[in-house]
Amino acid sequence: MLSLALGLITMPVQAQNAALNARIAQLATQEESKVIAWRRDIHEHPELGNQETRTAALIAAHLKKLGLEVQTGVARTGVVGILRGGKPGSVVALRADMDGLPLTEANDLPFASKVTTTYLGQPVGVMHACGHDTHVAMLMGAAEVLSQVKKDLPGTVKFIFQPAEEGSLPGVEGGAKLMVKEGVLDKPKVDAVFGIHINAQTEVGNLTYRSGGEMASADRFTIKVHGKGAHGAYPWNSVDPVVTAAQIILGLQTIVSRQIKLIDDAAVVTVGTINGGVRYNVIPPDVELSGTIRALSPAVQQQIWASIRRIATNIAESAGATADVNIEPYVPVTTNAPDLTARMLPTLRAVAGSTHVREIKAVTGAEDFSFYQEKVPGLFLFVGGMTPGTDPATTADHHTAGFRIDESGLTLGVKTLATLAADYLSGAKR
Ligand code: NI
Repeated sequence: MLSLALGLITMPVQAQNAALNARIAQLATQEESKVIAWRRDIHEHPELGNQETRTAALIAAHLKKLGLEVQTGVARTGVVGILRGGKPGSVVALRADMDGLPLTEANDLPFASKVTTTYLGQPVGVMHACGHDTHVAMLMGAAEVLSQVKKDLPGTVKFIFQPAEEGSLPGVEGGAKLMVKEGVLDKPKVDAVFGIHINAQTEVGNLTYRSGGEMASADRFTIKVHGKGAHGAYPWNSVDPVVTAAQIILGLQTIVSRQIKLIDDAAVVTVGTINGGVRYNVIPPDVELSGTIRALSPAVQQQIWASIRRIATNIAESAGATADVNIEPYVPVTTNAPDLTARMLPTLRAVAGSTHVREIKAVTGAEDFSFYQEKVPGLFLFVGGMTPGTDPATTADHHTAGFRIDESGLTLGVKTLATLAADYLSGAKR
């Protein structure tokens, strides 16, 4: 009510938003060459998760220059910038991830990565093969745009530059989970969070989203089958863990096909490794399986966990063996709060044009943005990075050595991030 009353004294709220948003659009367009230059610099100097020191220094220097309050070293290499608007209001967070991947870039670009390092003991290249370089550049652009209109912003914008979205080394805590643990959503307390991912299979100029479960949870499981070893010629002396493991693998196939209500949600159970035995004519005592579980709602996720335990232990028991099942939850479901999604949809349509905003089917890939959404309502979107007219089927996928992005898509990302923040703070209903 207060903001409405104040609005009436000067200008109606909607008209104020229209003027502010037009200004944001204009500033974002002016930022384009800077954003592309930042992106190329970061692309040429990719860093693996929890090691993003050069990237973090670049971001921190930029945010300080803009006059923001800056925190560094959050969750090791993360950077947080706080922009206080000229009027009181709520707090909105915008998030970008900063890490590259252990891949050798195969693109012939003047700013292609030539960086190499060691990953899990192996010499590897380092590459921004998921577009996190564009995320950093777009959010740096949005920070510059919003800092130029800060006197008109009713509230506070928190810029979250997060390390290690792709996961940390085994046994190491990191990424969004650690940022939340270190209090990134407190002081000042964040009311809503927005994030954007570039997409190499979506045409430049388009935004896609899904209300509710958008990207899957990802959990790792291991099953250790303990039997009894024997000479391969005398299997009756064994409790064969190889045959038991094979039965368990087939049993797991019935979870998605026979137990999950697939008309509601997709789900995946994949066995990725089988390890056991050293010689062709020796039945080993143990076999170990590992795999990944993907679900689009916490209820289905729980159902799959219970099914894996039940199937593995009971099949093992039927063979006279035992199975130790270990499930490690990794990333929760990326869930776009339906109320917030519905509320911000007019903003997306205004920024991209209504024919360029599309609700998509859920994705069985995962994204650790979900850790913020567990605490506050959040909306995670995809912005097009594919050259118009290109066939997505022949465009290199994310996480491959030929991954590339059409940079003409970045300005829409900057506009979207900045306008989402401004409209959220204005409580805008178009
Ligand atoms: Ni990514």
